[in-house]
Amino acid sequence: MATSNTNAAPRDNWGSKLGFVMAAAGSAVGLGNIWKFPYTAGENGGGAFIVIYLAFVIFIGFSVMLTEFAVGRKTGRSAVGAFKSTDGRWTFVGVIGVLSGLLIMGFYPVVGGWALAYVQKVSTGLLSNPEAIGDSFGGFITNPIQPLMWMGVYLLMNIIIVSRGISGGIEKAGKVLMPILFLILIIVSVKGLSLPGAMAGVEFLFSPDFSKVDSGVVLAALGQAFFSLSLGMGCMITYGSYLKKKENLVQTTGMVTAMDTGVAILAGIAMFPAMFALGMEPAAGPGLVFVVVPQLFAEMGGVGLIFALLFFVGLTVAALTSSVSLLEVVVSYLIDEKGMKRTTAVLSAAAVMAVLCIFASLSLGGVGPTLFDTGAFDIFDLLTDKIFLAVGGMLVCIFAGWRLSREELEKEITNDGEVKFPLFGLWYNLVKFVIPVAVAIVAFAGISSGFDSGKGPIMLMGIGIIALTGLLSKKL
Ligand code: TRP
Repeated sequence: MATSNTNAAPRDNWGSKLGFVMAAAGSAVGLGNIWKFPYTAGENGGGAFIVIYLAFVIFIGFSVMLTEFAVGRKTGRSAVGAFKSTDGRWTFVGVIGVLSGLLIMGFYPVVGGWALAYVQKVSTGLLSNPEAIGDSFGGFITNPIQPLMWMGVYLLMNIIIVSRGISGGIEKAGKVLMPILFLILIIVSVKGLSLPGAMAGVEFLFSPDFSKVDSGVVLAALGQAFFSLSLGMGCMITYGSYLKKKENLVQTTGMVTAMDTGVAILAGIAMFPAMFALGMEPAAGPGLVFVVVPQLFAEMGGVGLIFALLFFVGLTVAALTSSVSLLEVVVSYLIDEKGMKRTTAVLSAAAVMAVLCIFASLSLGGVGPTLFDTGAFDIFDLLTDKIFLAVGGMLVCIFAGWRLSREELEKEITNDGEVKFPLFGLWYNLVKFVIPVAVAIVAFAGISSGFDSGKGPIMLMGIGIIALTGLLSKKL
């Protein structure tokens, strides 16, 4: 992505169509698919969660991504500028996006650091003692110092990449390593499916039991859809602003959505059959990939070691191509709106992120402040995944549906009538009416049900922060 002079009037464009699709897919495919999706599906009952998630991806995710690309390309500006240049009262939506970027980067690099650490752990004999793999993960993430060091290294990689502009090496690394990661997920799946007892996992994934679905599960599925597709915080607006006028937005959106969803489902198939076969709990939580993958490969001897290494290298790169897009949203805000130099912007944003990550990482070992019995890691996750992204996506839809005109949008999306989009009317009505109402209902019900588990107050706090930002919007 051409990011080095975001102030200059004619924006640099993506070199090629494939380059753009790969960059947007690089942002979308990350820890959200391979780490978060499987354990969130596991905690929320499996099959039924996945069905609801897929419905949200198709009806809401696709439409919101198309909206973000259209708004970004139309205004040619990043998250905050896109709104500000149209109507100052909407600036707060971009600002919430920047805030979400900061908060997601308050825990993402912690997990990115785990992935890096596992590259090292696998190469130094983790697989030689399969029984200890589970305990070793627990011990590692609750250790106060070690994960922090890895987080630091991971964040530093982000700093270096984003200081130079995203279009350099990381895109190339992504293009090589993403397909490798995909292949390894297939190998993991085949290996997992071949184990005795694996069918229970397939059943868990694909025979939905809707009796376990409550409003908390529905909100989790909605949040996961937004998180995984990188929506609701202006990330795809920023990417869209670099898109050429002749590119087909609808097709691009379809490709990115399909790739992202494909990887998530594949990650599910890679994890659950193996878990059931190995006798692990589907609700094992955030440790899932870090425990299942090494255990599976431990049984395979020498090749297993190579696969495991490639898996964690691939996971690290997938995480990097996503986290740089998050950091970039904050950085381009600081450059465009606050007039900072790129290096200063990167360092200031990263400094805040580092502090948040320290709290997040320590909270997993029970150290540090809590709010309603919830530690920093979970607070950042709850606020963003369950509230900011969904509400942000809803606001983008309201902005497009009610603030921009139908004609403007149709011209933008069809490239002045050159691209056929027969479903335009359906998309428009989804964006203008259905998605805002649907997100509002899901968020309201989800928050209410969250009061049983102590998560409600934190989510409600998120709504409060959004309302406050909205009220202050004149000053932003
Ligand atoms: N989608 C990425 C993942 O699944 C994370 C991410 C990158 C993201 N940019 C985002 C999430 C913007 C929400 C908004 O790992």
